Amino acid sequence: MRTIVAGNWKMNTDRQGAADLVNGVLKGLAGLDTAVEVVLAPPFPFLAATVEQVRGTRVVVAAQNCHEAAHGAYTGEVSVPMLKSIGVGACIVGHSERRQYFGETDAVIARKIDALLEHGLTPIFCCGEVKAEREAGRHEHVVTTQLDGALGHLSADRLARVVIAYEPVWAIGTGLTATPQQAQDMHAHIRAWLQQRDIASVPVLYGGSCKPDNAAGLFGLPDIHGGLIGGAALDAGSFVELVRLATEAEH
Ligand code: PGA
Repeated sequence: MRTIVAGNWKMNTDRQGAADLVNGVLKGLAGLDTAVEVVLAPPFPFLAATVEQVRGTRVVVAAQNCHEAAHGAYTGEVSVPMLKSIGVGACIVGHSERRQYFGETDAVIARKIDALLEHGLTPIFCCGEVKAEREAGRHEHVVTTQLDGALGHLSADRLARVVIAYEPVWAIGTGLTATPQQAQDMHAHIRAWLQQRDIASVPVLYGGSCKPDNAAGLFGLPDIHGGLIGGAALDAGSFVELVRLATEAEH
């Protein structure tokens, strides 16, 4: 299975900070013999410069969001063809912060995924339950609903081009991490959802306070194939260490 380590920088860095971070990651990766796919998702203003910086390497640049329409009167939005035209290869969709603060529903997310696949970009689709849903024992139901709502309409060949990230919302940026058992159980659940559709090739990443000190225990689990990293992706050393740990755990 492909293993992916993706850095989601969220609304952090500035022009110089982004350039320095990319440089630090590239330097670290140069000393690493790895087949792990590395993805960097800087904020929109730094995407084009990042694409130039990583040219000639295996690093893929991702956006953190996109609009479903190709162009038009949508002030403030960024379309998939725009991203494609500057060399962006992937896009995070359905992140819990976009669901929570920007009202994104699975229906909207489904249309963004369609637009990305239409133009050959890889959607990195995020799913995950909030704390109350886990406490009520509804976490698997919630994730199934998200998978059905955002990915259920895709043909098998389109679904095979998606990357899924399971991010328990209560673990994002909180320092709390799912236990290896909680993570493995949910990843197995997502894997079963994919298997029902005869898809074996889609990597399911773990996200939520994934850091060098807890990543080895997560990346080694049977149904986890890498991570979507927030806070720890803002430090080149930590991020490269996560790529190294994912390389060691590759399966
Ligand atoms: P975190 O963020 O690693 O800071 O918890 C993960 C994410 O939201 O993608």
